[in-house]
Amino acid sequence: MRILVVGSGAREHALVWKLASEPGVEVVCAPGNAGIAALARVEPVAASDVDGLLALACRERVDLTVVGPEGPLERGIVDLFAGRAQRIFGPTRAAAQLECSKAFAKAFMTRHGIPTARYRVCEEASAAHAVVAGGELGFPVVVKADGLAAGKGVVVAADRATADAAIRAAMEERQFGAAGARVVLEECLSGPEISFFALCDGERGLPLTSAQDHKRVFDNDEGPNTGGMGAFAPSPLVDAALQARIQRDIVDPVLAGMRADGHAYRGFLYAGLMLTTSGPRVIEFNARFGDPEAQVVLPMIEEALSTRLAGAADGDAGALPLRARPEPHVGVVLASRGYPGPVASGVPVTGLAEAEALEGVRVFHAATDVRAGGIVTAGGRVMTVVGRGPTYEAAIERAYAAVSKIRFEGMQFRRDIGRKALALPELP
Ligand code: AMP
Ligand code: GLY
Repeated sequence: MRILVVGSGAREHALVWKLASEPGVEVVCAPGNAGIAALARVEPVAASDVDGLLALACRERVDLTVVGPEGPLERGIVDLFAGRAQRIFGPTRAAAQLECSKAFAKAFMTRHGIPTARYRVCEEASAAHAVVAGGELGFPVVVKADGLAAGKGVVVAADRATADAAIRAAMEERQFGAAGARVVLEECLSGPEISFFALCDGERGLPLTSAQDHKRVFDNDEGPNTGGMGAFAPSPLVDAALQARIQRDIVDPVLAGMRADGHAYRGFLYAGLMLTTSGPRVIEFNARFGDPEAQVVLPMIEEALSTRLAGAADGDAGALPLRARPEPHVGVVLASRGYPGPVASGVPVTGLAEAEALEGVRVFHAATDVRAGGIVTAGGRVMTVVGRGPTYEAAIERAYAAVSKIRFEGMQFRRDIGRKALALPELP
């Protein structure tokens, strides 16, 4: 089977690594990165260039295309490929609205009884200011740009002034462009956050291993939000009973609701959940795998993923959940100085071979490039270093032992990835 993987992050490196390890699978990746190029042929077609990707898939006689990031989904890559009978795994543009419009997702959840925070959608800044002034959602109140804003469109506002400023930034100053033309205001929920993934074929959502992300840039969840600074899997907070409840109250109703609404959902479904005193509630949906969660969840899958993805693209991924090894995996993101703000590129990276030679370690590249035969940085999140072990402690130790071998000028990373798995919060 020839598979085209679309994207260039560590999530896509993990996907390519998993798929390329399966018998009879050959992988092409666009646009890829330096790490991916060691495993698969990379083609210089941008993930946003959906017409170029279609041409590539046709030219390469690809049997299946797997989409990593949300951008091409929003541009309708799945509809485009389906119209040309090119098999592709991912949601259609209409189904990807679950991620691409928070207002769509909230209305969908309300319609289908899926637990989430109380909310109001506002089309005008004046209406949004009035909702905040009225205090009906309480404080803190969460202000969210409706559209895709690269993880930066959410402000948890402690008071009215902060909320008003967030509304002005999104709706009047258009800091996130058209994504902020509408805002969703939400009641603030509290509790630990987990990421839950399902591989969906339109009918069924097969559960994958749960994970926990670390969104803030600094230790102890301080500093600005990022794309994700590290992750571990499984989440020790998700036992069999909670997993069954998430399946029953969230995943199954999403699949049934999307089908009923005429947008059968195929692709990875990512539910960001808060475990509140009244049970799990949805913070957000993403229409794709998480990054950095994919880097710790995909290595746990113990069977051929290519077969399941091809099946799902055809509408039947099988009934049994994917087999997964129970061993904890911990992934630490190495980022460039200044991330999540502007960063320098082209900085030489050393120590990769030493890191990868350690037992139970795997390094997935994100923003990397090759220059003069060596690896250099090419953006904010440079790579994810994954350790696995019989316990969370062992996996953490291996990941950080590998991190200590890698060096580049300005390298920053969190030193507390995985610690949450050791000190469990009180569950409601
Ligand atoms: P999102 O971009 O939707 O994932 O939101 C970013 C972060 O904002 C989440 O990971 C949560 O920590 C926080 N957040 C979003 N919605 C809420 C909410 N209703 N209550 C509390 N925190 C929230
Ligand atoms: N891990 C957060 C995301 O992929 O959006």
